[in-house]
Amino acid sequence: MRRPFIAGNWKMNLDRASALALAEGLAKQSKGLDGVDLAVCPPSVYVDAIGRALAGSNVALGAQNVYHEANGAYTGEVSVAMLRDLGCKYVILGHSERRHILGETDAEINKKTHAALAGGLLPIVCVGELLDEREAGQTLDVIRRQFDGSLAGVSEEQMGNIVIAYEPVWAIGTGKVASPTQAEEVHLALRNLLQERYNKGVAEAVRIQYGGSVKPDNATVLLAQPNIDGALVGGASLKVDQFMGIVAGLTK
Ligand code: PGA
Repeated sequence: MRRPFIAGNWKMNLDRASALALAEGLAKQSKGLDGVDLAVCPPSVYVDAIGRALAGSNVALGAQNVYHEANGAYTGEVSVAMLRDLGCKYVILGHSERRHILGETDAEINKKTHAALAGGLLPIVCVGELLDEREAGQTLDVIRRQFDGSLAGVSEEQMGNIVIAYEPVWAIGTGKVASPTQAEEVHLALRNLLQERYNKGVAEAVRIQYGGSVKPDNATVLLAQPNIDGALVGGASLKVDQFMGIVAGLTK
């Protein structure tokens, strides 16, 4: 059985006080919860403070990005060791906003994936098609290309430390959630790809989150799909009751 995993991607939102209040609220509300992994990924400048607020709670800490080099003259970047130093467990890699707004390529995401794995951060590797790619019937080709590019050279053993997030770009921040059937189709294709590239054991073990306008009122049916193992949540992760409402969808 794959353990469900719900992660919040706070993106470039909140100020220090509201981020702390959110973390404290989540720590409190998730007390005693069992059978699910939870994480939040604050803006990097707040990672330290949020890590302290979450200490000893059921909510793990993640980052939204990392640089692949260990240290040196890389102005503005943050290393794997720095994030580990602040208590990060996860890092989101290849989010569509980084791919499409900041121009990140599969090759760069691949370097970051290897750096994260080598340094003990668990990558949440995002893949997802644009609306015109879906309309042109290219969804599965795009997913395959991003999977192969971002995960090139990842061993069978390392794959056990990776979470994949399927996030159709047209569903992110738009309120247009993928239907459970649309999402499940891609999740199943990803699971089959894991079997093709690795083996059945890997395919059965790797968790695949869905992301894109997940809210409490659509989470239950999405999370009930056989190959959807959790959610990567943007907008709805900024409110304690909404995030916890999505988590509650798991137990219904
Ligand atoms: P959203 O974002 O839930 O606001 O659509 C999801 C994501 O980008 O991870």
